[in-house]
Amino acid sequence: MTLDPIPFAVTAMDHVALALVVGTAAAWLYLLPAGHGNNGPSRAPMSVLVLALALLAFTSAADLLARTAALADVSLGAAWPYLGRALTHSDYGGFWQLRAVAWTGLLGLTLFIAWCGPVRVAAWGIAVGAVTIIFTASATGHAGDDGALALPALINALHITAACLWGGSVLIYAIRLLPALQRPGIPAQILAQTAMRLSTLAGAALAMVLATGIYNAWRLLPDWPSLWESGYGRALMLKLAAVAVMMVIGAANRFFLVPGVGRWARQNSGGGTVRLFLRVLRVDAAVFLLVLAGAALLGMQAPPGH
Ligand code: HEM
Repeated sequence: MTLDPIPFAVTAMDHVALALVVGTAAAWLYLLPAGHGNNGPSRAPMSVLVLALALLAFTSAADLLARTAALADVSLGAAWPYLGRALTHSDYGGFWQLRAVAWTGLLGLTLFIAWCGPVRVAAWGIAVGAVTIIFTASATGHAGDDGALALPALINALHITAACLWGGSVLIYAIRLLPALQRPGIPAQILAQTAMRLSTLAGAALAMVLATGIYNAWRLLPDWPSLWESGYGRALMLKLAAVAVMMVIGAANRFFLVPGVGRWARQNSGGGTVRLFLRVLRVDAAVFLLVLAGAALLGMQAPPGH
């Protein structure tokens, strides 16, 4: 298995930043009930969105420099003079420019939301900006070899989007939304409703992640033995082990903790369930970060027979 620490860290951070942006859009467009206005809970994801944009700026610049060095076949330190040419004379450069335009749009929308609150059209703009960057990431990865608009690249972009929707929503809910919804003055029913919505969203995103993931694996693994005989296959199995843990936690939330939170909201008793739900979600979020690390490791392996 190949692991070059710096590109690995940059790709993993890029995946995390994209998941945070998609999770924030999902919080504003679905998790929080309509008309949640411009108050505490709806403002809670703001600081994470700003952090995610800063992270994306760093990972985009670092990836551009690394790819330029590879294109020019020079060391990282000697790549600077080739940046302009890489941007204007390579397919990668064209996708990077699209990524830069989407990032600038995200920055503008974030400033608008900071001023006017998370109005729906702006939240949809955040979602479109994130999916555009995901499209460029897929087009410049393994999946883009047959062309950015070919089926493999589009399905891989759908895979990454669904994965960010699942894990990104869990991340934003666990670190920002649920703590804000637990504050005094927020009706218990709102918290219970958002918990059910998170579980529903996670279930739908999981189905999409599985379908597109199986397609990716079918396309890139020539046979079953390559799953354990190739570095690529072993990296995929590592990732799938963490995904399995997320699925078990998701089922426990769906069938035990979310109904428990509903009972707490109706009967105003058993506040311990909400605290347990928060702890379990934070474990889920941590496992999701491991899955993203697994995806970054996978992206660095040459698929068998590729
Ligand atoms: C929470 C669950 C998951 C997350 C967060 C996730 C995330 C990702 C990400 C970010 C990539 C893009 C890597 C890149 O292009 O650099 C990716 C690729 C891939 N994923 Fe997943 N994934 C998940 C579940 C799955 C599942 C369940 C499968 C298989 C059944 C799967 C199979 C694959 C494969 C084969 C690729 C490689 C595509 C390529 O190299 O072009 N993933 N995944």
